[in-house]
Amino acid sequence: MKLGYDEAGSGEVLLLVHGFPMDRRIWRHQLGGLSDIRRVVAVDLRGRGKSPAPAEGGWSLDDHAGDLAGTIDSLGVEQVDLGGISMGGYIVFAFLRRYPEKVRSLILVSTRATPDPPEYRTGRVTTAERARKFGTAALAGSMLPNLLAKDAPQSVYEEAVQMLEALPGDTSANDSLAMKDRPDSTAMLASIAVPTLVIEGAGEQLLPPGTAKGMADAIPGARLASIPGGGHFVPMENPDGVNDAVRNFLNGL
Ligand code: MLT
Repeated sequence: MKLGYDEAGSGEVLLLVHGFPMDRRIWRHQLGGLSDIRRVVAVDLRGRGKSPAPAEGGWSLDDHAGDLAGTIDSLGVEQVDLGGISMGGYIVFAFLRRYPEKVRSLILVSTRATPDPPEYRTGRVTTAERARKFGTAALAGSMLPNLLAKDAPQSVYEEAVQMLEALPGDTSANDSLAMKDRPDSTAMLASIAVPTLVIEGAGEQLLPPGTAKGMADAIPGARLASIPGGGHFVPMENPDGVNDAVRNFLNGL
């Protein structure tokens, strides 16, 4: 499946993958802010925004990874700098398992290598049922407080709500079930052989403390950037902080 995307800039591609329940707009500040050093491409994963959904059935994170590979081919490049936030990071791990030759460097934002613990897996099913029945917007009240830092500005909260409201309930349900079934990627961290930047919002509330540091410590040579003034949605909450960290990293390659 070929994905729709926004792009800015020229040259080597920085491909950015959003998370759940989001779309390409989580990266809107990185499109403009990094377009002087890369061709920045922010995709919509299948079933939202500019990208179609398959005619029927659910999907897996491997399916998302396959869509990314097809999109990279259609961009006419062999390799990309690959960034993923949260579920986008889980998809990046799936991608790395299948298409390591297409990855020049990695940027892992607000994400983790571990699978869902058992109690979380039950929650995924409930989330999927609610999303299908009532729409993604019905998840806002329970999810958003954990996705933003405690002191996030109202404007960021409103942008996040807009993303949730635009997301078809079936798409959220399929993503939720796909995340439930993702494998443990912890063991592969030690074998990652490309330059890697791990980014966390210092005000992260969804992931357990120490998640980003643990991942950075396990990936040979990885750098860790802890960005103040943001939580799980740090690319929107502190865009300049994220852009500076990514710029330093990419300029050092
Ligand atoms: C995300 O931000 O992509 C998801 O909230 C991650 C998750 O639920 O594990």
